[in-house]
Amino acid sequence: MTLKFAANLDDLNPDEPYAAMGDKEQIALYLVDGEVYATHNVCTHQFALLSDGFLEDGCIECPLHQGKFDVKTGAALCAPVTAPIKTYRVHVEGGAVMVEL
Ligand code: FES
Repeated sequence: MTLKFAANLDDLNPDEPYAAMGDKEQIALYLVDGEVYATHNVCTHQFALLSDGFLEDGCIECPLHQGKFDVKTGAALCAPVTAPIKTYRVHVEGGAVMVEL
């Protein structure tokens, strides 16, 4: 397990997805009800960045075909997405958002 700096907590806004980088993969961060969650940033349907999508009630809506994922569990919630999105454990340390890779 590697902890990777992903963002400053101050950079995150409630219900606004944020694009970050892991070592090699793109990660999306979400601030929901004061907690930070992280998923892979590329939709499991086709290529679209979830950080460009619409975040509401803990669900991220893909900007391309409006599939939805639960940002806490990664579960695919509606068509056309059927495969879950990878999630990452998040640690917030002294204002730094760290993601377990
Ligand atoms: S690319 Fe995300 S729903 Fe199609």
